[in-house]
Order: sequence, then structure tokens, then C-alpha cells
Amino acid sequence: RSSYGITLLPGDGIGPEVVDVAKDVLFVAGAKEGVELRFQEMLMGGAALDAVGVPLPDETLAAARASDGILLGAIGGYKWDNNEKHLKPETGLLDIRSGLGVFANLRPVTVFPQLVDASPLKKEVAEGVDIMVVRELTGGIYFGKPRGFGSNDKGEETGFNTEIYSVSEIDRIARVAFEVARKRGGKLCSVDKANVLEASMLWRKRVTAIASEFPDVELSHMFVDNAAMQLVRNPKQFDTIVTNNIFGDILSDEASMITGSIGMLSSASVGESGPGLFEPIHGSAPDIAGQDKANPLATILSAAMLLKYGLGVENAAKRIETAVTQTLDNGFRTGDIYSPGTTLVGCKRMGKEVLKALESQK
Ligand code: NAD
Ligand code: IPM
Ligand code: MN
Repeated sequence: RSSYGITLLPGDGIGPEVVDVAKDVLFVAGAKEGVELRFQEMLMGGAALDAVGVPLPDETLAAARASDGILLGAIGGYKWDNNEKHLKPETGLLDIRSGLGVFANLRPVTVFPQLVDASPLKKEVAEGVDIMVVRELTGGIYFGKPRGFGSNDKGEETGFNTEIYSVSEIDRIARVAFEVARKRGGKLCSVDKANVLEASMLWRKRVTAIASEFPDVELSHMFVDNAAMQLVRNPKQFDTIVTNNIFGDILSDEASMITGSIGMLSSASVGESGPGLFEPIHGSAPDIAGQDKANPLATILSAAMLLKYGLGVENAAKRIETAVTQTLDNGFRTGDIYSPGTTLVGCKRMGKEVLKALESQK
């Protein structure tokens, strides 16, 4: 097949700024490989709330399901922060992930050699880091019931959530992680809190059981608090990490800083079937929204993941990765990855430079 339909979900804050740029890059990379991409933009998050009163309109989910891949910017902002739960932009995001069944979220943590100086870690600690965080995305405390607000026996107000995983949920994410590790460095570290939490005890038991299907992958286990520390102490000890929804959320933001900025981290969310959801790991960055300051590379690299994992057009994905490398070689930096001696540019200009690099490819 050489023609695909892509759903664009720009969302809020810097979301529309980075998606705008990534869309053009995606289009050109596809065209270079003889692949035609058709785009359909839909409402999501706060933008959808303002326009139609819900964070994930039925038409958006239907269009996403009917497409071949989805590129999302980011959602959320101060304006909707005090909304009731069902009217939060974030609820729309959780609903589309669960509605699409994309339970496996791949978050690559790759230190570009050109950006070693942008990392707050020492050069010798940061350089060469290449980790894949496999985050379970449709279970755990984000979705567990019971949840809500109540009161305790003293009549005091309470808020509560449930961290829960079933065997099938753990087994399927473990299998994805082992497959990923097998194609990478052959090492998988499962991160949990099995010294305290029952959900983690089951997690560790099942990941250990699934390991027998992958004798070629070396499995280790680590408690999440230690993992948070080890990521800063010696990140090169990690190859592939598999962890639950909330630990994966937190550890991937932490790990992003090894690369210099959260603005560098892309992600792919995939399920058993149906289209994948591709998004940067960062949020809507309301503090810099509307100022043309956002780093679009996380979204551009997510577009590359869409081509690779979503459409299977690996050559087009490679083109984007090469163009990003070239742009960094050429010295262009947004503020978040700037260091003296490089050229400070905005979001749009960064996009133009990546496009230029792409267009100059054979
Ligand atoms: P955030 O990721 O939006 O921002 C954290 C910090 O990183 C800010 O200082 C921001 O300016 C900076 N940053 C983020 N992306 C950047 C980029 N591409 N280039 C340069 N700097 C960048 O996290 P937050 O401030 O905690 O959350 C803001 C809103 O985003 C909240 O409403 C939150 O719920 C939402 N959020 C959405 C997603 C998503 O859509 N997937 C992810 C995380 C947070
Ligand atoms: C992310 C975000 C989301 C999450 C929020 C906005 C619901 O932080 O994509 O990492 O926690 O999954
Ligand atoms: Mn997050």
C-alpha cells in the first residue's frame, strides 16, 4: 500500500505548534519514499472542550480508529485544571489510549552525540545512553477501580485510587518488552515496587514466568526508587526497561533529561491491532505556548516512529532521523537544548531546517 490516512490531534498549548511542524516533515518523508499521506485534523483535549464540551468527541475517536496512524501534540492547560474529572483534557487522553487499546508505550531515551553538552549530567555519564522504556499504558492506577472521593470513619474527606493489574495485562506488556529487548541489547530490566505492593508482586511473578519464552534475553528486576537513582548514577547500565503505567510516566520524564530535554523524547503507543498513537512525552507546556519556543523534535521523532511502527515504512522513518541528526550537526537548537556556540532558533525555524535537510536527501 502506498497511501495512508493520518489523524492529527494538535490539542492544546504547544501541541498545535509542534504538530504543524511535524506534519510537514512527515508528509515530505513519506513522499520521498513514494508514500502518500492524507491528513485529517480532529479536536481533542481542551480545544475539544471549548468547541464541543467534551475532551474526546465521538467523531475524534471514530476518525482515529478508522485511520492508519495518529499523531498527537499535547493536551491540557491552566484553564481546564479545575474541571471535574470527566471534563478534563487529560481524561480525553486516557480515553483515547484505552479506546484504541494501545497498551504498550515505547519511549526511546537516546542521547544524540551533538547534545551531550545540553545534558545536566556529566559527559561521561550521558554520552552513548540508549534506553527503551516500555510503559504499560492502559492499566494500573490510572484506570483501576474503585477510585473517587469519599470519607473515612472519622468523617474526614478522602481521595482514593487503585493500583491493579491482571495476569493477562502483565503478560502482554511483558511479551512486548521482551520482543523489544531481543531486537536491542538483549537486556530487560523490570521496574516495580514488589517489596510493598501486591500489584507489583504479581507483576514480578508474571514477568519472571514470561522470561522462559525468551531465553535469549537477560532479565533483571529493580525497585522503582532505586531505578530512579540508577538512571542518574549510571544510565548506561540500562538497555530496555519495562514498567507499569505510573512508574513509566515518572521515570521517562526523569530519563528525558539525560538527553538534554523533555523536548527530545518521542513515543509510540501500540496495541494488538488497529492504528498506533504517536506523541511526544511532554505536555502542552503552557509556560512557553504561543511563543514559538517549543522544541518540535520530540514530535518530529514521533512522526518517525509512526512511519516505522505504525505504517512499516522504515526507510521514511530513517530519513527523518537522518534529517534531525543533520539539523543538529548544522548547529540549530531551540532554547531547551541550547548551549554556547550553537544557533538559537524557534519552533518553526527548527522545523524548516529539518525540512531543508530532508529535501536535500537523495
Ligand atoms: P510539560 O511537559 O507540559 O512541561 C514541563 C516543562 O517542560 C515546562 O517548563 C515546559 O516549558 C517544558 N517543555 C515541555 N515540552 C517542551 C518542548 N517541546 N520544548 C521545550 N520545552 C518543553 O508538563 P507540565 O507543565 O507538568 O504540564 C502542562 C500540561 O500538560 C498539564 O495540563 C498536563 O496535564 C499536560 N500534559 C499533557 C501530556 C500529553 O498531552 N501527553 C503530557 C504531560 C503533561
Ligand atoms: C504523559 C502524560 C499523561 C500521562 C497525562 C497528561 C494524562 O503525563 O503522556 O506522559 O500521565 O500519561
Ligand atoms: Mn507524563
